[in-house]
Amino acid sequence: MTELQIVTLPDEVLRKKARPVTKFDDDLQALIDDMIETMRAANGVGLAAPQIGQSLQLAVIETLPKVDEDGEDIPDSRELFVIINPRIVWESREVIDGIEGCLSIPGYVGEVERAYAVRVRAQDRRGKPLKLRLKGWTARIFQHEIDHLNGVLYIDKLTDRENFWTDEEYYNMRQAELEEKAEEGEEVKETAVTKPNE
Ligand code: NI
Repeated sequence: MTELQIVTLPDEVLRKKARPVTKFDDDLQALIDDMIETMRAANGVGLAAPQIGQSLQLAVIETLPKVDEDGEDIPDSRELFVIINPRIVWESREVIDGIEGCLSIPGYVGEVERAYAVRVRAQDRRGKPLKLRLKGWTARIFQHEIDHLNGVLYIDKLTDRENFWTDEEYYNMRQAELEEKAEEGEEVKETAVTKPNE
């Protein structure tokens, strides 16, 4: 397997609508494996083919670990998805604001409103139909990656133009919030500031 180069803004491939995948051949299998390796090496939770310069309707997603009652990560609880030619067939009316980062926009994060839950139809890596029901952070990652396949980036969907920060600004802001909560004696489960890379 090979780690691939991740393309960043302003590369135009990020703004194109990706082509459907029609051949589920060995080349595609190798590309998928390389994308999984690239996503993991970049500490990402999702990677869409345009992000490695391939204008194809393909994305890999690895969910955040599930957490136990104490807020600790449960080992081996991440779930890996390969989605091909995906489309969102339903989204909840309930929406939720959350922080997103993108491997193609390194060094920045922003707040984006997403549907809390979605249903997705796609094909798996062998071309078999997939029907998925997703919610919470997983649904957010799917929406971010499917946007990539349509040339849409999270910066197009910020809750407010001001809700866009450098990693450092965001880190300092969140750290200050956590410290304030701790001083007020509030129980703080989150001890480190993290952000998802998609
Ligand atoms: Ni992204």
